[in-house]
Amino acid sequence: MSGSKQEGAGGGCGRAMGLLVRGAGQVVRVAAEGVKVKLRGDMEDLAIVSATKDQGVSVAVDEAGVIATIGLDREVEAAFPGAKWREVVEAKGGVVIPGLVDAHTHPVWAGDRVHEFAMKLAGATYMEVHKAGGGINFTVEHTRGATEDQLLHLLLPRLHRMARAGTTMAECKSGYGLDVENEMKMLRVLEKARPLAPLTISSTFCGAHSVPKGLTAEEATRLVVEEQLPAVKAAVDAGKMSVDAVDVFCERGVFSVEQSRAILQAGRRLGFLLNFHADELNPLGGAEMGASLGAEAMSHLEEVSKEGIAAMAEAGTVAVLLPTTAYILRLPTPPARDMIEAGVPVALGSDFNPNAFCLSMPLVMHLACVTFKLTLNEALTAATLHAAHALRKADTHGSLQPGKMADMLVLDAPRWEHLVYQLGGADDVITHVIKAGRVVHTRPNPAAPSATP
Ligand code: NIG
Ligand code: FE
Repeated sequence: MSGSKQEGAGGGCGRAMGLLVRGAGQVVRVAAEGVKVKLRGDMEDLAIVSATKDQGVSVAVDEAGVIATIGLDREVEAAFPGAKWREVVEAKGGVVIPGLVDAHTHPVWAGDRVHEFAMKLAGATYMEVHKAGGGINFTVEHTRGATEDQLLHLLLPRLHRMARAGTTMAECKSGYGLDVENEMKMLRVLEKARPLAPLTISSTFCGAHSVPKGLTAEEATRLVVEEQLPAVKAAVDAGKMSVDAVDVFCERGVFSVEQSRAILQAGRRLGFLLNFHADELNPLGGAEMGASLGAEAMSHLEEVSKEGIAAMAEAGTVAVLLPTTAYILRLPTPPARDMIEAGVPVALGSDFNPNAFCLSMPLVMHLACVTFKLTLNEALTAATLHAAHALRKADTHGSLQPGKMADMLVLDAPRWEHLVYQLGGADDVITHVIKAGRVVHTRPNPAAPSATP
């Protein structure tokens, strides 16, 4: 049996317990106990607990939604004699994996950009659309015009769609307000969504997502540092919201490396994690700058330099790779293999936003394997443990082990790889999405034939 905390966490006749998942063919823990980050070849090790010939694997969860133990069915049963389980899920020989963590999303906005998709297919670049007043600034106009309630009603179904595709934690950015009033509005919407959402939200303030109309980048930088960041900090200190990180779109024609540095340093002084967009369209040395500040995470990195990769490895910065964006914009792919070989912890995110409308992490994982050349095991590590580590939540999330939160997926498949292999088929492969020991989504129509061929 795996789980040294079993004695303390379990035991006791007739104890009221939370959830029991039993009869799994595999429990993919992703990491052994205590492991928060897996570098290089270690990304391959998924610490799988497999069924034996005559019994499956169980995961026992306590009433607080914390994993008590993982082990063979009869051992777990014996560890909790007469336990009263609030809920029992029969895995029927399927697979249990950690809930997926989406390390980069922009889910609060009004005004889709479906019309721009055709323009981009016809050859317009992201920056051409942006400079013509489309792109982020189009969404800013619509988001500024929307009320908090309207934004919440747009946000919640998106979060539910993410959860149905297996996401149990998502980093969610502001960034379509670009002034104090509207950035705070977006962060309040995320706060209101927290108790209603089927997943954990980690909020990031991204007031420097674009230079608002009528301002220079220098003026916008000053307003972010002098007005927006202090307002966010005051709301956090007053207990009105929880915001984990600060983000900047560091890019030619948006915020320069020096302006980004000033914003990130100001964020750091106020105690925020640094998690920003770097080296997406042009090789500006954003990664080097972020590493010099000890940034927790950087995203995109299609154009990262060799020096930038080395600096990230040295600083322990997580590279959050976003395959949907590179795919939709037909960008060069980031040097994912070089990053892994250099010892950078690689994570994945959907980058859900009106440019890249994708809410499905299994699809992101598929693209990461095919286009960025990650192995399947690396993609699962990147979409669970390392994504949680990018948000500095790997103490509690991102792998299955006693003492961590019971965020899990049950798959109707004999091997976990079906989740990625069945392109666009995740909704049929996932039978249960479990958040903190509670089933938040069950596959509809249980009479449907098994997803496994
Ligand atoms: O990560 N690159 C900047 N931000 C987003 C795009 C946001 C938008 O286009 O609305 C990204 O791809
Ligand atoms: Fe983004």
